[in-house]
Amino acid sequence: MSDSSSVTFHVQPGGVLSGQLRVPGDKSISHRAIMLGAIAEGCTEISGFLEGEDSLATLKAFQAMGVEITGPTQGRVRVQGVGLHGLKAPAGPLDLGNSGTSMRLLAGLLAGQAFASELIGDGSLMRRPMRRVTEPLARMGAAIATGEAGTAPLRISGGRPLRAIDYALPVASAQVKSCLLLAGLYAEGRTCVQEPAPTRDHTERMLRGMGYAVDSGDGRACVSGGGRLQGSVIDVPADISSAAFFLVGASISVGSDLLLRHVGINPTRTGVLEILRLMGADIEVRDRREVGGEPVADLRVRGAPLQGIDIPPEQVPLAIDEFPALFVAAACAEGRTRLTGAAELRVKESDRIQVMADGLRALGVDARPTADGMVIQGGGLNGGRVDSQGDHRIAMAFAMAALRAAGPITIADCANVATSFPGFVELAATAGLAIDAS
Ligand code: S3P
Repeated sequence: MSDSSSVTFHVQPGGVLSGQLRVPGDKSISHRAIMLGAIAEGCTEISGFLEGEDSLATLKAFQAMGVEITGPTQGRVRVQGVGLHGLKAPAGPLDLGNSGTSMRLLAGLLAGQAFASELIGDGSLMRRPMRRVTEPLARMGAAIATGEAGTAPLRISGGRPLRAIDYALPVASAQVKSCLLLAGLYAEGRTCVQEPAPTRDHTERMLRGMGYAVDSGDGRACVSGGGRLQGSVIDVPADISSAAFFLVGASISVGSDLLLRHVGINPTRTGVLEILRLMGADIEVRDRREVGGEPVADLRVRGAPLQGIDIPPEQVPLAIDEFPALFVAAACAEGRTRLTGAAELRVKESDRIQVMADGLRALGVDARPTADGMVIQGGGLNGGRVDSQGDHRIAMAFAMAALRAAGPITIADCANVATSFPGFVELAATAGLAIDAS
């Protein structure tokens, strides 16, 4: 993985975003395409795959378990599925880099294998909470050891028969839901997960697309163990979480007019559109279509005056990765924006409440962090120096902030942008952001 301290972004103030672009493939869908393709029968052909470090970590983990995977070549990947019971013991620990999705979903999938495995990651991932998956997996009969703080390394014994559970998620988390559904494929009986609020449903959609029955509705998703998955063709749409930086960048810069092509608009992911619209953003959803079981559209966004709002709590899980960008929108809006009910932001790739508040304050914004959110007094930003603390989304959010800043913004510790958005600097520069990296 990258030495995340070695890349610094330098962004000149002002400018507009214009033209047409397609941001890289959806990270959540790319991970799942490799995982489900690997345990399916037959071949899975993926296009639009995210060639970022996180999804590549998942790809390499399955290669290390004996799955033949070719690519990625220009977003195309071919996975030769080995069936539910065809994975082989890896020769050593599986290093998942910065990727929480890889670790939590793999924990569920590997709990059902006949062999032992160990999951590790970078400094950030080794600090993130894993009991949220190991506890329910233990109830299913899995044996997984964590570090003392409930963190990785995860040592999974394997070879234990799993039994189904009916589990109410204590926090709204698609990673935990997906982890348990994957373990449920290997369990005796019917595994059900109840979520306190809707979260992304890519696992359920892709399982169905591969011929596996998933019963879902009313915040519940259930699978029965012992079925089979059929290899398939998966067209990964552009990631709305990556598009979010451009949606915010164009919204805060008067005169911007940008078309983002082929963006995934799964309703469990569109909180950023709802929140920006409530703030007054001018976003048009064009040419809605369905691609491989996922809704997709082109998004046209133009600069518009934004107002501060109280963010509706029900939108929080639907925009959970977009708050770094949304905080920048709030700093550029007129009036106060208040976020509550988002304590999960403290356990992402960084503590996104604290790190964003520190960065905004360094740019002269009145940003007050709270236990579960933030209160931001809008009105604009100064230039200055901020530290992304190795968090890809924070680095990209502050890069866009320069469009409205009074002076240049320098952002430290940006190498991890490559985990989710390879080519960000070049693409943003093409659209009009005056950015370079050193
Ligand atoms: C993801 C779920 C979310 C999100 C993450 C990707 C997924 O995490 O923040 O970037 O692909 O399932 P949580 O489930 O922890 O909310």
